[in-house]
Amino acid sequence: MTQKKYISIQKAIDIAAKGGEVSIRGWVHRERGSKKLKFVVLRDSSNIIQCIFKKDQFEDDKEGKLWDSIDKLQVEASMQLTGTIKADERAPTGAELLVTSFEIVGESHEFPIQKDASKEHLANNRHLHLRSRKMTAILKIRSTVFGAIDEYFKGQEFYEYHSPTLQAVQCEGGSDLFDVDYFGKKGVFLAQTWQLYAEPAVFALEKIYTIAPSFRAEKSKTSRHLTEYWHAEMEMAWSDFQDIQNHGEALIKHVFNCVLKKHQADLKLLDRDITKLTPIVEKPFIRMTYTKALEILKEKCNMDIEWGKDLRTIEEDKLSRLYDVPVICTHYPKKVKAFYMMEDPDDKRTVQGCDFIGTEGYGEIIGGSHREHDIEKVKENLIADGEDPAEYEFYLDTRRYGTVPHGGFGMGVERLISWICGLETIKDAIPFPRTMERYKP
Ligand code: 4AD
Repeated sequence: MTQKKYISIQKAIDIAAKGGEVSIRGWVHRERGSKKLKFVVLRDSSNIIQCIFKKDQFEDDKEGKLWDSIDKLQVEASMQLTGTIKADERAPTGAELLVTSFEIVGESHEFPIQKDASKEHLANNRHLHLRSRKMTAILKIRSTVFGAIDEYFKGQEFYEYHSPTLQAVQCEGGSDLFDVDYFGKKGVFLAQTWQLYAEPAVFALEKIYTIAPSFRAEKSKTSRHLTEYWHAEMEMAWSDFQDIQNHGEALIKHVFNCVLKKHQADLKLLDRDITKLTPIVEKPFIRMTYTKALEILKEKCNMDIEWGKDLRTIEEDKLSRLYDVPVICTHYPKKVKAFYMMEDPDDKRTVQGCDFIGTEGYGEIIGGSHREHDIEKVKENLIADGEDPAEYEFYLDTRRYGTVPHGGFGMGVERLISWICGLETIKDAIPFPRTMERYKP
């Protein structure tokens, strides 16, 4: 292959008004043409550009081999080419390249994805569908989201910390655990959360975070559930319940802000209504107790929910649609929440746990709490859940040796991405979604 300096398609578009010779490379996004003229829309990670091949440009090509290869060019063939760039308002991205030389790097043969392919076909060909402009835009935003989470926590002086994926205890209820055959032994599971292995570490590092895969054997076929998702979690010592909520709000604001600054073009390509995103950066989130949420649901949505029942998706949706910022719902009934949550001293029927409910019906984005530090209460709660406290001895040591007020939260990264991008389903927020029904390709 020739040694040329290749620039990105976006860079070529940026300098189109100046004109001149450029070399670019990428994949054929669309092609059409006649015997003498061929229009190829070339795609790379940065953008697309219209390239024009004129037969008379290739007169040295006596045997017509070059032109023949252009004529046979198919969608998704890879190529590198050199030509003169110029601005042209009629072209799809406002610039056009008149090709003077080119090289086909990898041919393509009847690319299996065509317009109007069914969802099932796209899912079966996920490895190829990743190349679509929609998936490319989402994956770029996803990359920024991961970076922004990292940046937020590092900026707040949290240490990055890692917990095991193979775990010997449950934390979020046993019903959705994935069992692992561990050399013939039972009682080993894929992590639902880092939490029980994170709490011991706050006695060393005080403020920690991670972004790691979590696994839930969820039987739900909803637009919000994956069996493998990326979980951004934090845990901090010496914190109170407010600190946990404040970090959750500031984290979401930071991520939204980073995406809005960097991805206007991608959000446009995804047809995302930006006016729905700006209030999340600019306005404070709404904080209300579970009890207040029930009152509002009754008053404004005519939904009568018995105190003590968990909020279902339908109720969260109704609530979220009343506001243009997330609702941080706190003080849920103790019996619907996890064993590790702190009993509220002012109302012992409730716990200091919080769910962040995204706007526009995007559901629970963050779940967090202040942790119960009374070892006897933790044991009682475990027994009430049908667990054997003896299996949790290592965890209970966090309450035995110099315990301190502490808490943390977990944020579903794909739920966040789905919400930011305005996706119909969480499955498009991750390259290869795993659900109850799909684990291939
Ligand atoms: O509310 P959850 O179950 O909380 C925990 O796991 C805590 N131990 C976290 C902590 O305090 N460190 O899960 C946290 C978040 C949810 O709010 C949701 O965004 C996401 O994880 N989540 C899922 N995302 C995609 N698919 C699923 N099946 C999910 N289950 C939970």
